[in-house]
Amino acid sequence: NKVYAGIDLGGTKILAVIVDDNGNILNKSEVSTNAQEGSDAVIRRMIELISKCLDKSQQLVSIGVATAGTLNTGEGIVAYAFNLGWSNVPLGQLLQQAFGVPVNLENDANAAAYGEWAVGAGRGTKDCVYVTVSTGIGAGIVSGGRLIRGRDASAGELGHITIDWKGPQCPCGNIGCLELYASGTAIGRRAQQLAAEFPEKASALTGKAGTTNSITSRHVAEAASEGDELSASILKEAGQALGAGLVGIIHVMNPEVLIVGGGAASIGAPLLDPMHQVIADRGISNMAAGVRIVSPSLGKEAGAIGAALLVFNTVS
Ligand code: BGC
Ligand code: NA
Ligand code: ZN
Repeated sequence: NKVYAGIDLGGTKILAVIVDDNGNILNKSEVSTNAQEGSDAVIRRMIELISKCLDKSQQLVSIGVATAGTLNTGEGIVAYAFNLGWSNVPLGQLLQQAFGVPVNLENDANAAAYGEWAVGAGRGTKDCVYVTVSTGIGAGIVSGGRLIRGRDASAGELGHITIDWKGPQCPCGNIGCLELYASGTAIGRRAQQLAAEFPEKASALTGKAGTTNSITSRHVAEAASEGDELSASILKEAGQALGAGLVGIIHVMNPEVLIVGGGAASIGAPLLDPMHQVIADRGISNMAAGVRIVSPSLGKEAGAIGAALLVFNTVS
């Protein structure tokens, strides 16, 4: 029987799923990675992981890979993946040589958007935007029932739109990008800055993290849920910034459903309530009021499932 592999290549782990053509997961597995080990080692692990997930009765038809960053899909090249420290890695070619099947690379958020739209929280809609708030911020856009891939499967770089045109420099080259204010990374960084500036207000955070420099968004979320004011204010500001970015994509795409997912989104109300407030206050009234804002339903496998489904639904 024919099966399709989907891989989500993240900064800290690789997740593989084997699906049938209804998107049902037949098998899955994950392995951790670290950016320091370099692309060769990571790709070797990826190949081992896929092989381990397949059993003898299954015939592998294709491999879809979801990865953060920008791609050259035609050539199967990961152009720039900031979180992996990769540039110009011929991932598609290497996997194709290893398994002898077609390989498609897709932006991680685009793949997750496709998965959520096809078999998750956006199912049955035509206009659906998925946003992931994690290490970075990314988006995938389904419009008129089609995933908007753009020229290089890189459409939907919502994290790198300017929300402060005189703001700080982003590693992507742009200035004042949304993900500098509202990603998990940004929340941790902001907490570190404020803890250095106002140590007397940051005892809950430094108590959890040990040192100022080791505060992460996870500590901020925990402290906020225990009533820490500094943490609550950090999440409020990040949530407002997120709302401002989402107003932009609501205005551009006029979606029916907006799915907000990713590790940082699971912080919940302290981040998402201010986000909702900004959307309600600033969005053009009928557009903002008409969009259903929901949580994802596929969980952390969304990107891998979407990557697998995309190969046979849109690409080949
Ligand atoms: C990257 C995007 C990605 C997002 C979420 C951003 O920093 O530029 O390509 O979709 O993070 O991983
Ligand atoms: Na995207
Ligand atoms: Zn940027």
